[in-house]
Amino acid sequence: MEWFELSGGMPLHGSITLQGSKNAALPLLAGAILHRGKTTLYHVPDIRDISVMIQILQKMGCRVHKEGSTLQIDAACADTPCVDAFLGEQMRSSIILMGALLGRFQKAVLPFPGGCVIGVRPIDLHVTSMQKLGAVLREEDGMLCAKTEGLCGNRIHLRFPSVGATENIILAAVCAKGVTELENGAKEPEIVELCRFLRGKGAKISGIGTSCLRIEGVERLRDSSYTLMPDRIVAGTYLFAAAATRGQICLCGARPQDMMEVLHILKKMGAEFRYIDEKLWMDGRNAYYPVDYVCTDTYPGFPTDLQSQLLAALCVAEGKSRVRESIFEERFRIAPQLNRMGAHVTVDGREAIVEGCGHLKGADVRAEELRGGAALVVAGLAAKGTTRVYGRTFIERGYEDIAGDLGKLGAVISKG
Ligand code: EPZ
Repeated sequence: MEWFELSGGMPLHGSITLQGSKNAALPLLAGAILHRGKTTLYHVPDIRDISVMIQILQKMGCRVHKEGSTLQIDAACADTPCVDAFLGEQMRSSIILMGALLGRFQKAVLPFPGGCVIGVRPIDLHVTSMQKLGAVLREEDGMLCAKTEGLCGNRIHLRFPSVGATENIILAAVCAKGVTELENGAKEPEIVELCRFLRGKGAKISGIGTSCLRIEGVERLRDSSYTLMPDRIVAGTYLFAAAATRGQICLCGARPQDMMEVLHILKKMGAEFRYIDEKLWMDGRNAYYPVDYVCTDTYPGFPTDLQSQLLAALCVAEGKSRVRESIFEERFRIAPQLNRMGAHVTVDGREAIVEGCGHLKGADVRAEELRGGAALVVAGLAAKGTTRVYGRTFIERGYEDIAGDLGKLGAVISKG
């Protein structure tokens, strides 16, 4: 099993430029399918999930040219609404192709996205939302098959502001007949990014940035280009690594407005920030205070994707913290791995108590999923001695070059 090896205990210092956002790039790639023409995306991260999505588009007949972090997609020749089962199963977020395929082909055939180690990850909100827009869904030969005579705008209220379901609704509604009114939609920055991208293609969307979107269907979209936002979860990961090592770092290209609650928690831990010329400076030399209580929430609350990295940083704070996970039921699976490094994390259902002891010791640990793996890297940076984090490929699903980035910040990290 591939690994990262870290020699920890030194403060991070220096500056790096942030990669583009994985969770913005994926829905925008789905959006490219909607248009029988060209889409150019800049600042696309070079990570496994993106290469899987590119292969899925290519198998559908799209021409995709990659040059550095620039992707040129020509979807004019796309000729099938079927997502390759093998590829689709590798990435559960392939479910967000459903809305775009229904909009383009009036049909979508894709594998059922399984659950994963962080949770069951149901798709009921996706299914009911597509049905409300005029699609009929059923299981055929183990695949999810959706068909429509033509999508029609409708009023949809989500019982939970699901990010993926919101993305599917937007992608299905932009070329549907009539108007779609979405209530209680997700309003993560990645949703705003998708709306802005689609507006640039000629879509008519209002209420962007709020939980109530109004989407008026249009006949066709147009060629466009778009530069992706920086990855706020990668940014937060590096900030928690700087806090855990009491370091001082600068993130070039960061957008603090996308991560206010994360910065709020880091300030409670003792970190200080400056933001000048799109550079976010963090001084983590005093970031050793515990946090009495943090609960993950949908945006603009504290993001579930940074909960494990926060937990790792709290393990080396000096005192007791309490963390509640309200989104994914299995996010605390990382606790036993942290405890192997000398942490004192006690999990009780949706809550974890961290008795921060100020230090950790290096150990061999194993990542089972993307953000938990990133948290083990954070812990390894803070731990005295050598830490080997197995399951490197989980982490590389979302981090373009975590070893290179951390190396630029002074970390001693290698991979094998
Ligand atoms: C997106 O996943 C992100 N993935 C996740 O990031 C992120 O953790 C999550 O949003 C929450 O912010 C991508 O953008 C590719 P949800 P998604 O639908 O869309 C329940 C990462 O590390 N739910 O908002 O799958 C579900 O069980 C990944 O980059 C239903 O009940 O998240 C969960 O409890 C991990 N029914 C909650 O909603 C549904 O039909 C959040 O799910 C859909 C979701």
